[in-house]
Amino acid sequence: MLPANYFIRHLEPSDIEAIIAICQLVYPNERPYTREEIEDHRRVFPQGQFVAVESTSRAIAGAHFTLRLCMTDFHFDDPWDVLTAGGTFLDHDPAGPTLYGADLMVHPLHQHHGIGHALTEATRFLARDEHLWRMVGASRLPGYGPLSATETVGQYVDAVVRGIRSDPVLSVHLKDGWTPVRPIHGYLQHDPESANWAEVIQWVNPDLDPPFKVRRK
Ligand SMILES: CC(C)(COP(=O)(O)OP(=O)(O)OC[C@H]1O[C@@H](n2cnc3c(N)ncnc32)[C@H](O)[C@@H]1OP(=O)(O)O)[C@@H](O)C(=O)NCCC(=O)NCCS
Repeated sequence: MLPANYFIRHLEPSDIEAIIAICQLVYPNERPYTREEIEDHRRVFPQGQFVAVESTSRAIAGAHFTLRLCMTDFHFDDPWDVLTAGGTFLDHDPAGPTLYGADLMVHPLHQHHGIGHALTEATRFLARDEHLWRMVGASRLPGYGPLSATETVGQYVDAVVRGIRSDPVLSVHLKDGWTPVRPIHGYLQHDPESANWAEVIQWVNPDLDPPFKVRRK
């Protein structure tokens, strides 16, 4: 549950600087979004852009950004840059049956309070509201980097799934009901913590019929 002193709302232009600052903290090796890119997210799919706000200070605690895609337009191994049209979300397809979870980030000062979980719940309400049959994303594997010389990524993910190991990101996603699908290499351009690996993850909307029926509707 979201703690009482936080609330979730849609992204507003005044949030942009704070979001860029969070990006710089949590993805120190990646280029942060530009102001224009975040404005594009809001322009193409405003209802898919969520922020968590601390009520007293009005500080932005975290964000979850999504877009709709038809995943058959893409290859399974496509990196984040391709799936998000270089971070702009200009490939958002209003008829796409999959809600793609492009980004979930929580400011380090606000982590471990259930904000990530609440932001994930907000996107699932959206998927159900828009009658989308699933969400897809890819989980970073920041615990894998130090082990990558001695363990395959498959062995690592398997150990996390079985609860033998804990990963700072994948374990949170698994707790939130995502299903692991397959590891892919090079999803993010510069993620040495994850040895540049990520695990594709999926959540299927329990309200809907199988995909072929969804497409026929
Ligand atoms: C992954 C990330 C979004 C998780 O955000 P978060 O807000 O800390 O997530 P939650 O608080 O919902 O869950 C994290 C942990 O806090 C625990 N928790 C949840 N509510 C809690 C509460 N009220 N009090 C204490 N702990 C709580 C959860 O059980 C979970 O425990 P675990 O780490 O032992 O599994 C955050 O770590 C992050 O931004 N990481 C960097 C960016 C990144 O890699 N994003 C993912 C891209 S794929």
